[in-house]
Amino acid sequence: MDASVRDAIVREVRDRFSGDSGGHDIEHTFRVVRNAMHISSIEGGDADVIELAALLHDTDDRKLFGDTHGECPFARSVMENRFSDDTIEHVVSIINSVSFKGRDTRAPDTLEGRIVQDADRLDAIGAVGIARAFAYGGSRGRRMYDPSDRPRTDMDAETYFSNTGTTINHFYEKLLLLKDMMNTDTGRSMAERRHTFMESFLDEFYREWDGEQVPKRRSGVLSDVQGK
Ligand code: ADP
Ligand code: NI
Repeated sequence: MDASVRDAIVREVRDRFSGDSGGHDIEHTFRVVRNAMHISSIEGGDADVIELAALLHDTDDRKLFGDTHGECPFARSVMENRFSDDTIEHVVSIINSVSFKGRDTRAPDTLEGRIVQDADRLDAIGAVGIARAFAYGGSRGRRMYDPSDRPRTDMDAETYFSNTGTTINHFYEKLLLLKDMMNTDTGRSMAERRHTFMESFLDEFYREWDGEQVPKRRSGVLSDVQGK
C-alpha cells in the first residue's frame, strides 16, 4: 500500500476511535495489523486486503457506533476512490465476518479473512486480552467476578451481545474458546502461549479470591466449567 494512503487511512481511523478507553482504542487496531502482517508473512494472502481489513475491522462495530446492518459506511468511505471495487467488497465481507458472536460465529470465506480473524482473536487473549477484558467490563460497570454467577456457553449472537455478566465469566464465554477456533497454523501456535497464560491467571485469581485456597471446582480449566 502506498505510504501516503496508509498515513491518511490511519489518521481517519485514529479520529474514529478517539475517546474510547474500553479496549477499542487505536492501539488495538495497530496490534491487530501487526499480528495480521506477521501471520501473512508465513501464510500468504493479498497484503493490501489484509492490512485494510485489519485497519478497518472495528470502525463500524455496532457496540461502538450503532447497528448499520453490515453496510460498513465508515470503512467504505475510507476506501472509496482509493481501492478497486473488488478490494472494497472483499474487505467489507471480512469486516462482517471477523467478530465473535457466540455460537453464531463463522470463519471468513477467504484466507485473507481468516488471517484477520486470527489476528483480532490473538489480541483478545493473553496478557493484553486480560487487560482489555477488564477495561471493557469496567467501562460498562460490570463486576469483575461473582462466584454465584455461572458462565453461559453456547449462546446465540443476540444472547451473547445482550449478556451483562461478570468479566471472569467472559473468559469462559469467549476468551478460553478462541484457541481452538483459530483458522491458521501460525495463528494457532501464537494462541497457545497466550491461552496457557490466561489459565495461570485464572488459577491465581481464584487462589487470591479464596484466601490462598484453590477449590478444584473453580480452576481456570475450561472443561471444568463445561462439565466435561
Ligand atoms: P474484538 O475487538 O476483539 O472484536 P470485541 O469487540 O468483542 O472484540 O470486544 C472488545 C474487547 O472487549 C475484547 O478484548 C473482548 O474480549 C472484550 N469484551 C467484549 N465483551 C466483553 C464482556 N462482556 N466482558 C469483558 N470483556 C469483554
Ligand atoms: Ni477488534
